[in-house]
Amino acid sequence: MGTEFIDLFNEWSDSYDRTVQGKDREYREVFHDYDRILNEVSRRVKGTVLEFGPGTGNLTLKLLESGCQVKAIEPSVKMIEKAKEKISDFEIYQGDFLHFPEVNSVNGIVSTYAFHHLTDQEKEKALRRYGNILPSGGKLVFADTAFVSDDHKTYMIQRAEENQYHNLARDLKTEYYTTLPVLEKLFRNCGFHIFFQQLNKYVWLMDATKK
Ligand SMILES: C[S@@+](CC[C@H](N)C(=O)[O-])C[C@H]1O[C@@H](n2cnc3c(N)ncnc32)[C@H](O)[C@@H]1O
Repeated sequence: MGTEFIDLFNEWSDSYDRTVQGKDREYREVFHDYDRILNEVSRRVKGTVLEFGPGTGNLTLKLLESGCQVKAIEPSVKMIEKAKEKISDFEIYQGDFLHFPEVNSVNGIVSTYAFHHLTDQEKEKALRRYGNILPSGGKLVFADTAFVSDDHKTYMIQRAEENQYHNLARDLKTEYYTTLPVLEKLFRNCGFHIFFQQLNKYVWLMDATKK
């Protein structure tokens, strides 16, 4: 559950860093301002940070450079290899948003471009667990594609199809991209204060604080 897209990420691992640099036209808008998006997440946490879905390690690197201690959880073996090529010495475990080793004394939880791999039901299950891991005042900061409404999601899928961006349109239809009202409810139900900030046409920052 939640790991049905792993084959795709094993295949994507070699070219992923070219995609985030805007080399793939279909995904250029999704990754527009990628570096700024990772900085926005990284600057909001400190201390010991749990990172989900690090992929090739781009956010991990920024967290380490800013002085955080990072424990990263990644399901794709190929992505783990790529991250290790980039960062020689850091803690990374094979796992996913819902299955990961017991962790103590975590100050923050982060993830970029990954939370949509969980269904809304799984998202709630994960957030409930993170609410139990974080102390009061602890930060959970995600950046991911989300839509202001179902109508807006439908519009963006149609737009991708009109542009002949068939891979992007398929992703938007088959992965579990959700809306801000749904996310707001899930975060609140799990004991978080949450605010959202749009970072590009697709990606929203979710800055949540444990009550
Ligand atoms: C689009 S990449 C994002 C990588 C990196 N965070 C970034 O911002 O560039 C999505 C990552 O999430 C991972 N992933 C997929 N399903 C996941 C799950 N259920 N739990 C945790 N990570 C998952 C993928 O293997 C991949 O490394």
